[in-house]
Amino acid sequence: MTALRVALAGLGTVGGGVIRVLDANRELIARRAGRPIEIVAVSARDRSKDRGVDLSRFAWEDDTQALARSEADVVIELVGGADGPALALARATLAAGKGLVTANKAMLAHHGLELADAAERAGAALKFEAAVAGGIPVIKGLREGAAANEIARVYGILNGTCNFILSKMEAEGRDFAEVLAEAQTLGYAEADPSFDIDGVDAAHKLSILASLAFGTRPAFGAVAISGIRAVLAADVAEARALGYRIRLLGVAEAGADGLFQRVHAHLVPENHPLAHVTGATNAVVAEGNFVGRLLFQGAGAGEGPTASAVVADLIDIARGEFGPPYAMPSHALAAMEAADGGKRRGRAYLRFTVADRVGVLAEIAAAMRDAGVSIEGLIQRGANPDGSVLVAIVTHEVAESSVAAALERLRGSQSLIGQPMWMHILG
Ligand code: NAP
Ligand code: HSE
Repeated sequence: MTALRVALAGLGTVGGGVIRVLDANRELIARRAGRPIEIVAVSARDRSKDRGVDLSRFAWEDDTQALARSEADVVIELVGGADGPALALARATLAAGKGLVTANKAMLAHHGLELADAAERAGAALKFEAAVAGGIPVIKGLREGAAANEIARVYGILNGTCNFILSKMEAEGRDFAEVLAEAQTLGYAEADPSFDIDGVDAAHKLSILASLAFGTRPAFGAVAISGIRAVLAADVAEARALGYRIRLLGVAEAGADGLFQRVHAHLVPENHPLAHVTGATNAVVAEGNFVGRLLFQGAGAGEGPTASAVVADLIDIARGEFGPPYAMPSHALAAMEAADGGKRRGRAYLRFTVADRVGVLAEIAAAMRDAGVSIEGLIQRGANPDGSVLVAIVTHEVAESSVAAALERLRGSQSLIGQPMWMHILG
């Protein structure tokens, strides 16, 4: 049977992995796909780089954009970046009526709707299983498996680098910067690792999941984003002492208040499944009105898992199994207003580094009282070598706007050293 001809742009961690998966499982993949899948052309920046695979069997294109004009039926974009060569290639590929497979969540978060529309007009496939949660088939799970359900909430651990860092800090008491370097070496981190640790990568993925889960237009610009740079080893230790683990979560909800999307460090109770997700593992929870709670868990980054998801998309295309990229025609996706996060209620963890002097605790407590924030528990740890003291507070359930007001009252206080840390407690 006629082979599915594929052109591959980007031969880094994921691109190299795609070649290795197709080589290792060639016959099985052909049987599952109903026909062989053959790479016909490849492109990257540096032709001379050793990638540990034999590239001499493929045509080489110095100009990555030429892949859109090649004999291939499908182009795989694994270059990365929201715009630039990746976007130009994606647009040209779909305009040429070829299928596009990408792992590029940044591009999808910013241009997903445009690309989906272009794919639908061309009758071409646009598939992006690898863009969210690496090897976990969560896109397929939401697009197909849970398609009968109204989904009210989708949330989870969406960044392998952050989860690797947080769980290493927890297990080994190591510093943030040291563990980040290890995640980069393992190929988990983005080209610009600030995307990982500042929560942007998780927000890209959350906006894609939210669109699929709720049938809404991707709205990356409406995601409230913060990362894990400010998480101290002391926060990890205090959270543990209180019965929690710290995880960077993406949380999206759709309801009468509108579309809520947030990426933020959370305290996750030890009895919640997400507390036990460690390393570069990702986990996504989706709550459907008939299926109940679904938990998707697996490797969220790295060569093998991500390449596995890319090749799964190729197999679907080879079988002719693809529909509208966001599970419904892009014109049918609803535009939903962003919800006001300040109205949300929940418990909060607040950590202050303070000067060790009389009246500091009273000042913090007064700010809480004046803003109507009730304190459930408070821990004060003895003086650090620099003479500062750590104060960690857990609040009772309260509107987030009240917590913000309490912190506002403390802004500029001479008692505080540095910025307070605010983490939400997963309810
Ligand atoms: P990577 O290791 O940095 O590889 C990027 C590849 O693109 C390299 O081969 C590079 O060429 C090539 N490239 C970069 N700029 C180019 C340009 N201007 N023109 C042509 N080629 C160019 O990245 P990666 O980790 O494989 O990630 C690829 C994509 O997958 C990204 O969108 C990323 O967000 C996504 N993703 C990655 C993972 C993961 O675990 N790594 C997981 C899920 C999704 P040279 O090799 O010649 O420099
Ligand atoms: N940098 C990403 C992460 C790669 O750490 O999760 C997978 O998308």
